[in-house]
Amino acid sequence: MVNRPLLSNRPSWLRIPEPGDFRSPVHDKRVVARLGLFLGAAILILFVTGLISHLHQHPVSWLPFGPEPVWAYRLNQGLHVAVGFATLPLVLAKLYTVYPQFFVRPPVTGWQHALERASVGVLVAATVFQIVTGILNVFKLYVFGFSFTGVHYATAWLAFGAALVHVGIKLPVMFRAFAAGARNLDSDDPGPDRSPNGDATDGTTRRGFLGSVAVATLFLTALTVGQTVTPLRAVALLAPRDPFDGPQGLAVNKTARGAGVEELATAEDWALELVGPAGTSHLTRADLLAMSQHEAVLPIACVEGWSASARWTGVRMRDLATLSGGRPDDPVHVVSLQEAGTSYATSDLPGSYVAHDDTLLALTLAGEDLDLDHGFPARIIAPNRPGVLQTKWVSRLVVGNAA
Ligand code: HEM
Repeated sequence: MVNRPLLSNRPSWLRIPEPGDFRSPVHDKRVVARLGLFLGAAILILFVTGLISHLHQHPVSWLPFGPEPVWAYRLNQGLHVAVGFATLPLVLAKLYTVYPQFFVRPPVTGWQHALERASVGVLVAATVFQIVTGILNVFKLYVFGFSFTGVHYATAWLAFGAALVHVGIKLPVMFRAFAAGARNLDSDDPGPDRSPNGDATDGTTRRGFLGSVAVATLFLTALTVGQTVTPLRAVALLAPRDPFDGPQGLAVNKTARGAGVEELATAEDWALELVGPAGTSHLTRADLLAMSQHEAVLPIACVEGWSASARWTGVRMRDLATLSGGRPDDPVHVVSLQEAGTSYATSDLPGSYVAHDDTLLALTLAGEDLDLDHGFPARIIAPNRPGVLQTKWVSRLVVGNAA
């Protein structure tokens, strides 16, 4: 009351607008509700697929993943990154539709309103943060000075929690908006050329706006998803990675030079140290090649979303487990030539993976010796597993509980 005369004396371009000043029908609750539904579904998919990826890398005994279906991790992480990209236009459109609400006065009317506004603040900040850092990460632009995975994981809980609170509070409004929208998105009162308060507008229609958002989302998806759905590779103009661009026709994330293993991996005296219940033995590459070889067509499915199938041959892990005196389904701890303690220098193969027909200590790729950047002299390849766990430049296998 006290401020009102002062505000109204301001020149019009300095006057703080009110929600009713925004005349476009795209700010209508029916548009807001529809975008909210798509965004909510996207956040749910991102949270679940992200959690699955996390659990592959940090397994828990009560929810073990197995090697079947072979393609599951590839689909999971491809979906995560594809939906991640698609979320960008959805978030921008949603922010545009709701921004008049920033000018609601008074800004807070009670505890429920305060909770709602706080959850929206956390939701917007966390989602925008996930999108920006997620996209920078898949383009390998590590401009942020923190570990992406840890922070992305923590922020995922914030985003998901805030989304749950927001949806819980807004559910009645959403139902009402959908009931109204179901009658007719464009012709329902106020009409297509009317703002939510009934004023004439610039002619934008709700349906037209939602259609443009859908086209932008599909367009962005089509231009990026070829890094996972390889038949669409030719149109993947914005995809961060061509999965077939690399030595032996397969992309590489970490090179031998980057991992600091060039010298050790090409040393004449390299031999695999096999530790098991029967003791420790050493197998040269010639020894490994003399064992029964098995071929498997399996994808490298990167945590960054790209994936590509390739033809690998090598020794079945279960043959190595039994050779070491263990059982064919004993778990195996894998150690690489990378410096101990560096990322992905070790990995663990649970018993179900060791026993699988296609879990190999791979020695060749596409019919040739493994390229150094693909893990020469020997690497792990197993079904339904993130690329970061397909340990390269293997130096040691520890079978069962042998230490
Ligand atoms: C609300 C949005 C998002 C949520 C809730 C979410 C959630 C998650 C979670 C829980 C993980 C597992 C982290 C871990 O392994 O500890 C993950 C991983 C990942 N996310 Fe997201 N994410 C979101 C958006 C995005 C976007 C937009 C992108 C990029 C387009 C993206 C790219 C990635 C990548 C590349 C990983 C793998 C990280 C790694 O293991 O190295 N995410 N996400």
